[in-house]
Amino acid sequence: MTAIYSETQLATQLPAASHPLDPLVAEEILAAIAIVKAERHLSERVRFITVTLQEPPKSVVLNFQPGDAVEREAFIILLDNQDGACYEAVVSLTQQALRDWKHIPNAQPPIALDEFFDCEAAVKASPEFQAAASKRGITDMSLVMVDPWSAGCYGNEPETDRGRRLSRALCWVKDSPTDNGYAHPIEGVLAIVDLNSMEVVRIEDHGVVPVPPESGNYAREFVESRFRQDLKPIAITQPEGASFTVEGHEICWQKWRMRIGFTPREGLVLYTVGYEDQGELRPIIYRASLAEMTVPYGDPQVQAYRKNAFDVGEYGVGMLANSLTLGCDCLGEIRYFDAVMSTSRGDIFQIENAICMHEEDFGILWKHTDWRTDQVEVRRSRRLVLSFIATVGNYEYGFFWYFYQDGSIQYEVKLTGMMNTSAVPPEVRPKYGTLIAPQLYAQNHQHIFNVRLDMCVDGMNNSVYEVDTEAVPMGDENPYGNAFYAKSTLLPTEQAAQRLFDPYKARYWKIVNPERQNRMGYPVGYKLVHGENGLPFSHPEASVTRRAGYTTKHLWVTPYQPNERFPAGEYPNQHPGGDGLPTWTAADRAIENTDLVVWYTFAHTHVPRAEDWPVMPTAYTGFMLKPVNFFNENPANDLPPSPAKQSAQHKCH
Ligand code: NI
Repeated sequence: MTAIYSETQLATQLPAASHPLDPLVAEEILAAIAIVKAERHLSERVRFITVTLQEPPKSVVLNFQPGDAVEREAFIILLDNQDGACYEAVVSLTQQALRDWKHIPNAQPPIALDEFFDCEAAVKASPEFQAAASKRGITDMSLVMVDPWSAGCYGNEPETDRGRRLSRALCWVKDSPTDNGYAHPIEGVLAIVDLNSMEVVRIEDHGVVPVPPESGNYAREFVESRFRQDLKPIAITQPEGASFTVEGHEICWQKWRMRIGFTPREGLVLYTVGYEDQGELRPIIYRASLAEMTVPYGDPQVQAYRKNAFDVGEYGVGMLANSLTLGCDCLGEIRYFDAVMSTSRGDIFQIENAICMHEEDFGILWKHTDWRTDQVEVRRSRRLVLSFIATVGNYEYGFFWYFYQDGSIQYEVKLTGMMNTSAVPPEVRPKYGTLIAPQLYAQNHQHIFNVRLDMCVDGMNNSVYEVDTEAVPMGDENPYGNAFYAKSTLLPTEQAAQRLFDPYKARYWKIVNPERQNRMGYPVGYKLVHGENGLPFSHPEASVTRRAGYTTKHLWVTPYQPNERFPAGEYPNQHPGGDGLPTWTAADRAIENTDLVVWYTFAHTHVPRAEDWPVMPTAYTGFMLKPVNFFNENPANDLPPSPAKQSAQHKCH
């Protein structure tokens, strides 16, 4: 469940943080808000869009010893509803003082959760909207759903829209209170809402298209009469408990060590990920998170061409996280973590059980049968799962990190929920989508993700190589034509490191520490292993491509800068484009043997299917990080065999 409460319920004494990377607790969030309110004499019209930990410098984190005093700071993004101005504040919680305050010109902060509700209410109350709805036979406003889509920036907006904080809301209508409204788009009607004043600026009516008549229900009350009857229970039991230990936000599992955090924008954040190898804790990643995602739709029609949500930068997947339920979302011995944030009104917004951690059996990790002696050695793979699930309007995204016993790390996004829909007149077959019910279609679109990986493979200074597999020309060196080898090319600067995946060369990128070798003299490294990928189908000059420039390359590498956090910039909402990675990397800084950040882009292209309706079976996309000559041998060779179960037919060895 989620809970909202305010400062009256809280003590005045701030609890001491046990580590510099611990997320802010409720008392700290409220104290930060109170300090900035008092010092800036803020009116009730100033909103607190996000209040997060101002992460301390790496040197503070890396030199920290348990028991050391922790300096705490909060970073706050504020929005003044009166004049639309955006501010950033840094508050010292230790000194109880405002450290920094600045106006950020031409910036639109992300859309806050409470703006969703206010926007829907404003549209439903608009006489102009009611008139447009009535033209379509819709009179009961309680059945109308309004999704506050971000407005983007196209350059064709009326002059009066400029500088305003806008949503271009799309609307649906339900048959009944629990009906799936996405089966019934109110086609042709767009509500343009000023989110500062909650004024409906105008209703655009592009002509009546009948509301698709058929229901698209998936909820239990609509399906239970045909529930399948032949499922036997599966129980995951760990009679001695799970194999991980948790202290505060630090996690130990097998040889893995890491810390976790949570922000309203990125959701789950991993810090100081390392693997204990023969008594030495070897660092791999300093910080990892989903830094941006963009969902461009491919339909040029008037109601759809602006559909391209930046779900991290415009909405915040952390703020939209679900409160998870044991046995439904997660199976087994689960450890949950809550997420604590602020509402835009300055109260505490707490999501219980936002992060799920558990272990999963993952089949066979390795096996060999010695066919001469009949000796069988097999070890089962187990992985540690850290995840959260966000509901962004119609879609659900599950964001999963997996840690394996052989030193591999996997990132997986699980896409499910509801497709976004539009209506067409009877007999029309749309080119840019798929009919999923009479007069109802789902549009072609992509989900493009970027994960920021602040790497520290065996130390702070790393280099990145591109590795292509090359066939050798026939000749003296390759007389039989069979020879191929792995060719490593150093990527020395930011421009050189803007790369695309090439499956025909089995291309991968490896992040190495050039100053440390394994026992055979290879630099220790981790390689980025591709899953599904692709390129954006939007043109280079399209608004969404300019705004999401990061989507045009699969790999970007930058030297670490604490203020370079998000690949489409700090404030992508209504931004004209060019910010973030394309701007920073224009300097073409050196990235060799230095503290560097790897940004990996991966795309899932979704041409809708009948089977994705009325609710989408989960689609999976992501990538892996695998050790490459990081260890001297298979680090999971030391796994004990699993106890064999006796059964009449089979005997395990
Ligand atoms: Ni999709």
